Amino acid sequence: MSAEELPVTVHYIEPGGKRHTVEVAQGTSLMQAAVDNLIPGIDADCGGATTCGTCHCYIEDNWVGRLDPPSEDERLMLEGAIDPKPTSRLSCQIKLTAALDGLCVQLLEAH
Ligand code: FES
Repeated sequence: MSAEELPVTVHYIEPGGKRHTVEVAQGTSLMQAAVDNLIPGIDADCGGATTCGTCHCYIEDNWVGRLDPPSEDERLMLEGAIDPKPTSRLSCQIKLTAALDGLCVQLLEAH
């Protein structure tokens, strides 16, 4: 298996502390990886078009600086998100690359 084919491991942590660890193909979005694995708290109503904000999550502090900064569209959506924090991101805008292997994400309460 070449380096490009190796899966990326992501840890999603529910507000109550329950952890979901998944392995997904490189290039998958953080939102799609959650939806495909039935992770609670990421609804992704707009399918990744940056228009719903229901894929909002919090990136763990030590990973924030390793992500590309949010686009203007993402930044505007996050300003109107429920309970925004400095570590807030829209998971549909984060592409999982090998550099993000081991990423830890805090989920919001599922609605
Ligand atoms: Fe709608 Fe991310 S899925 S903004």
